Amino acid sequence: MIKVKIPATSANIGAGFDSLGLALNLYNEVEMEESDSIDIRSLDAVKVPCDSSNLIYQSAKYIFDLCDKPLSGLKIRQSNNIPMARGLGSSSACIVGGLTGANHLLGDPLGIDELVNIAATMEGHPDNSTPALLGGLVTAVLENGKVYYVKQEISDHLQFVTFIPNFELKTSFARAALPKEIPHKDGVFNLSRAALMSVSLYSEKYENLRVAADDRLHQPYRLSLISGAHEVFDMAYKLGAYAAYISGAGSTLMAIVDKKNTGFLKQARKGLEELGLSAWGLHSLSIDNRGAFVEEQ
Ligand code: HSE
Repeated sequence: MIKVKIPATSANIGAGFDSLGLALNLYNEVEMEESDSIDIRSLDAVKVPCDSSNLIYQSAKYIFDLCDKPLSGLKIRQSNNIPMARGLGSSSACIVGGLTGANHLLGDPLGIDELVNIAATMEGHPDNSTPALLGGLVTAVLENGKVYYVKQEISDHLQFVTFIPNFELKTSFARAALPKEIPHKDGVFNLSRAALMSVSLYSEKYENLRVAADDRLHQPYRLSLISGAHEVFDMAYKLGAYAAYISGAGSTLMAIVDKKNTGFLKQARKGLEELGLSAWGLHSLSIDNRGAFVEEQ
């Protein structure tokens, strides 16, 4: 068996809708080997499809088909540490796990850029799948099946504090809430901030992050889908966060906080309790600058 570890991701980072994402040190694990039949199991309490509709299996099969290699079956064991439908890249992790695992089993016939292109095309947008593969902060454009990207390693001075609601938010639902058209000035508002977020995170100009995380493309329309979001944002800023934003399509809210702000997590937990949101998950994560990788068992 091989084991692939795939990081969680946080897409959009405020204004960078469908174009910015970063990888975090929370990992799904996919163990995989060729087999005579499809034999899929979840190693935790998370229920997953155990037939050919399983996303890891489908992604792995795509690679076998692309490389003209017959596949009679796969044994897959998956550990699902990234919560599903919470805006932390759980679908991307399945796709990247399947692609990376199958490519490794076949002797790595595909290069990383081919995997980046395939993952983004399967996922639909490149802002989760690309950092899941590459790690770090990724700025990406998907055009005609090809991802044009830059990956930047981010310093370890930041904690990414995840406020994970006790309810799911499906990406399709969160996308359906968005308007079909936006005013020209909102386009300008966002493109300046997305660019500012990317370079400010990289160059450690953290005082820019609050302005850079502001957005008019998706967050104003999605906030009402996440009960308590406004209050949690206010609390995060009061406790000294550099920025707060909806992670991916939600429901998770992310606060970017200096690691020197050692009291943040404890005070945030107290704040959640005061807001009646003690059922929400709260974790302090760090940047993952490595991306998905394979461990031989
Ligand atoms: N950029 C996507 C969205 C992330 O916000 O809908 C989910 O894959």
